[in-house]
Amino acid sequence: MGIQITPSILNADFADLGAEVARIGSADWVHVDVMDNHFVPNLTFGPTMVEALARSTDTPLDAHLMIEDPDRNAVTYVEAGCSSVTFHVEAAKAPVRLAREIRKAGARASMALKPATPIEPYEDLLPELDMLLLMTVEPGFGGQKFLDLCLPKIRRARQLMDKHGVETWLQVDGGVSLETIERCAEAGADVFVAGSAVYSAADPDAMVASLRQAAES
Ligand code: DX5
Ligand code: ZN
Repeated sequence: MGIQITPSILNADFADLGAEVARIGSADWVHVDVMDNHFVPNLTFGPTMVEALARSTDTPLDAHLMIEDPDRNAVTYVEAGCSSVTFHVEAAKAPVRLAREIRKAGARASMALKPATPIEPYEDLLPELDMLLLMTVEPGFGGQKFLDLCLPKIRRARQLMDKHGVETWLQVDGGVSLETIERCAEAGADVFVAGSAVYSAADPDAMVASLRQAAES
């Protein structure tokens, strides 16, 4: 699939989301951060908002669920129009069943790990996943500093994917910018979430292009 850039709208203007998404026309996906104020100490939006957003753009939506009980709620986001749905392994009660339910509902199934969650216990799950999301900040807020301590885990995840011969995409999320994206790509990531880097730029779509170029170099 090559390099993909998935801007996060977390730092966009929530009062004008349709227009904000229209500013990133060359993005491969729109990353939507769903937060419930329990799994993370922040609150964003739910399926009704996501459904409206899906209607407003042709770019596929990549939902990142930072919520308790994804087992009961993830499929709702497929029904709301998301083409990829990521749940956190720290919150899921039955990750294999959940990944299968997301795929059965018609979306790509993805699992996220917080910075301190090791990858090794989950390597046998890789064939069940279309994408693995490695957080490179503690989830909850945009604009945090990239955690270099996550780089060895990105490398390890790429090695495990090669070992298992899977086509699983490897996404990184948190503090990704022109300063950090090359390190992530070199470590083996191929899908890049960028929130503040894109939406604090004067021209967000030009920043998407610059990030893509930096990751490909
Ligand atoms: C944080 C979210 C991220 C966030 C990234 O918990 O999952 O998607 O929007 O924002 P930046 O790129 O500013 O770190
Ligand atoms: Zn995210």
